[in-house]
Amino acid sequence: MCAEASLPAIRLMVEMQNPAVEGCEKRSEPALPSHVETRDFSVFYRTNQAVKRVSLQMSAGRVTAIIGPSGCGKSTLLRAINRMNDLVPGCHTEGELLFGGQDLYSPDVDVVTLRRRVGMVFQKPNPFPKSIFDNVAYGPRLHGGVSRGGLAETVERSLVDAALWYEVKDRLHENALGLSGGQQQRLCIARALAVQPEILLMDEPTSALDPRATSRIEDLIAELKGHYTIIIVTHNMQQAARVSDYTAFMYEGNLVEFGATTQVFSTPRQKQTEDYITGRFG
Ligand SMILES: Nc1ncnc2c1ncn2[C@@H]1O[C@H](COP(=O)(O)OP(=O)(O)OP(=O)(O)O)[C@@H](O)[C@H]1O
Ligand SMILES: [Mg+2]
Repeated sequence: MCAEASLPAIRLMVEMQNPAVEGCEKRSEPALPSHVETRDFSVFYRTNQAVKRVSLQMSAGRVTAIIGPSGCGKSTLLRAINRMNDLVPGCHTEGELLFGGQDLYSPDVDVVTLRRRVGMVFQKPNPFPKSIFDNVAYGPRLHGGVSRGGLAETVERSLVDAALWYEVKDRLHENALGLSGGQQQRLCIARALAVQPEILLMDEPTSALDPRATSRIEDLIAELKGHYTIIIVTHNMQQAARVSDYTAFMYEGNLVEFGATTQVFSTPRQKQTEDYITGRFG
């Protein structure tokens, strides 16, 4: 948020966006078991500790937002969940990152299988320069085990789930680069969904999109919730308040505050969180 906003104004915004939730009270429904859990988890780029002994639980079937100023370690933490940081020379982790109870960094974890279970959508839509069909079919073809007919079904289902099917069903064999930015991002979501992941990681998925395309992606997140565990990094406070159930606020690699989004935005426990969500810094 660029402009400063008062806490009462933010509280009002959160309440308007979620009228079922009163004030700062937590949702009454019980959280599902934690799907991803970090315990004293740190990530280092050589000597630079980008994530500092973070412990938090991200519930299955819910949306967790990670917020915080630039460089605070949001993307690093997100990328640790599908071990994308493995590709960075000199990057190593300490502590535990559990997925369904298993430590993701234990030596017997197969990273290819892990990346099928944990899909990722990036800031800038990045479709392959291939047809719309081939983009979505890419993952299922790579992982095998899908018949030709089954593949067409998978592509259709993924595009339906990504709220793109009706816009592209008559042009499946056209190049994906001919789609608008918002359509390309939904195609990337369809591509991620095609391998039936359990977790969807989204790193500022709407920052390159206009307000209308952003709103479609936010609606989509609401629809996908429940079926997938979604972890989203965003700089947009309203977006975090609109789409997430839980919010983690990070600052300089530390987890400053974590809780129900309604609580974090309406009655932050830490002064730093309040200053950030009211636009006083960051
Ligand atoms: N590939 C990399 N190699 C070395 N250092 C990195 C790498 N990626 C990130 N860092 C460093 O790790 C720290 C956290 O960066 P990260 O990208 O996780 O921040 P962020 O919160 O996602 O920021 P932004 O909001 O700007 O995207 C920063 O100090 C950054 O310079
Ligand atoms: Mg980032």
